[in-house]
Amino acid sequence: MTQPHQGEQPWYLDDAERAKGERLQKVLAAHGWGSRRVCEEMIASGRVTVNGLTAELGRRVDVESDDVEVDGVPIGVKPGLVHYLVNKPRGVICSVGDPHGRPTIVDLVPPEPRVHPVGRLDLDTEGLIVVTNDGALTNAITHPSRGVEKEYLASVRRGPVSPGALRTLRQGVELDDGLTGPADVSQPEPGLLRITIHEGRNRQVRRMCDAVGHPVERLVRVRIGPIRDRSLSPGSWRHLDASELIALSLETGAGGYAPGT
Ligand code: URA
Repeated sequence: MTQPHQGEQPWYLDDAERAKGERLQKVLAAHGWGSRRVCEEMIASGRVTVNGLTAELGRRVDVESDDVEVDGVPIGVKPGLVHYLVNKPRGVICSVGDPHGRPTIVDLVPPEPRVHPVGRLDLDTEGLIVVTNDGALTNAITHPSRGVEKEYLASVRRGPVSPGALRTLRQGVELDDGLTGPADVSQPEPGLLRITIHEGRNRQVRRMCDAVGHPVERLVRVRIGPIRDRSLSPGSWRHLDASELIALSLETGAGGYAPGT
């Protein structure tokens, strides 16, 4: 079959459908899949489907009613909003800019649209962080009342950690900003702790471990609520998919993504 030139509509659409909607590459770009040029290439290489059929260049879509997928993943729930999962390496700052020119988390994702990190990881902490322009989801994940679980792996000094110190970490540690809430803590190997907390205080895990006499040597966040990813390499990112957004929405009460919200 001959490919339509850019701007033409596929032959199988009737006149009303040809005139309808936005150009597919524009819609993909607005959902953060790359520049229009990159999105055109994705379409041309057959990675994009509309309502289950491989899309051709020139296709227009109605974002309200058409079901658009890239590599089988729905492109996003709301036009204009993007949600990246980033594996932050050590030495990257969780802010949108740095007066000293150090690398920031937003340098790791596409420059447009402008996005921000959801919460913070310390300069030396590694692991998963959501980066988005979705203010509602940001508030829902970071709001203390939601208590979204965050799971960390911490290598600590002077291991193994005694049963008494593990109990203290689980029950609550007195820090200078008050007692920490209950935490799930296990020691899969001597000196390696798996810690799940529901709060998001500044340097919380490091301070908890300091308080029981085991300073942290390396700290990696491995889970945010329902979101895990063992294969995302340090410094890289991917889009959160629709099922992850729905799961986050259900866990945080953010609304907007879960069916019926
Ligand atoms: N706790 C810390 O101590 N540091 C982080 O970056 C995250 C949680």
